[in-house]
Amino acid sequence: MIIARSAQELREALSTKNGSVGFVPTMGALHIGHRTLIERARRENDVVVVSIFVNPTQFLPGEDLSKYPRREEADFKICELSGVDVLFYPDVNAMYGDDEVRIVAPDVRGYILEGASRPGHFDGVLTVVMKLLNIVRPARAYFGKKDAQQLVLITQMCENFFMDVTVIPCDTVRENDGLALSSRNVYLSVSERNDALKLSASLKRSTKLVMQGTLDACTIKEQMLAILEPLDVEYVAIVNRSFESIEQVIIGNTIILVAARVGTTRLIDNVWM
Ligand code: PAF
Repeated sequence: MIIARSAQELREALSTKNGSVGFVPTMGALHIGHRTLIERARRENDVVVVSIFVNPTQFLPGEDLSKYPRREEADFKICELSGVDVLFYPDVNAMYGDDEVRIVAPDVRGYILEGASRPGHFDGVLTVVMKLLNIVRPARAYFGKKDAQQLVLITQMCENFFMDVTVIPCDTVRENDGLALSSRNVYLSVSERNDALKLSASLKRSTKLVMQGTLDACTIKEQMLAILEPLDVEYVAIVNRSFESIEQVIIGNTIILVAARVGTTRLIDNVWM
């Protein structure tokens, strides 16, 4: 596995490889969810590139940038064992200069739900993803459905800017008890982890209701909120795949989302139906 620390090193590394490039952008602290993305990229491409970069521009002041888990040695090993060809591991100076042009998230879709709780977050995500895609120039880029709004906005950016890449949505990976895998789960104490199960339990309930024929968004949200008690819920939302709020679930075009604080940790989860 080649480790590239700048755009130029990455380009040099890729110039020695032939065939389609599959790209998995990450912020490190890799878990089985990331491995699943890497394994899929491995199956579907000739060359696999993973980036590990804790992108400062997507963290708001007071968020967990400084304590975000960093696990260089373990992450390198995971990449190596998962068959990654090139690991892109830049520092902040290799990615950002002064007074730069930035991508701005769309006014509505970028500023509701996650964007309302974290205003400006998606500007940072889209800016870094644009940079990464331009550096790596992959045929396919792999993103998890757990960050549903991020995935939808990145897909939209690639369409709006006529970018020559296919964004591949990948299913959320869960622990046996339902907890969605996240690098931030390491912040949870044992009792908080137990409380965190309410997020997936509420989504499970929503799926059951829909399967039983209850499509009314208000009824589903009420029942989810009852399960989520006494957590500090930021939102429960039912949207279509363009992130427009809907009153009735449309099978094949609905995402049900939840964001809540468990202790000091902010968790998100969702189900696509
Ligand atoms: O989902 C993430 O890990 C990050 O938001 C991403 C896409 C790597 C951009 O920093």
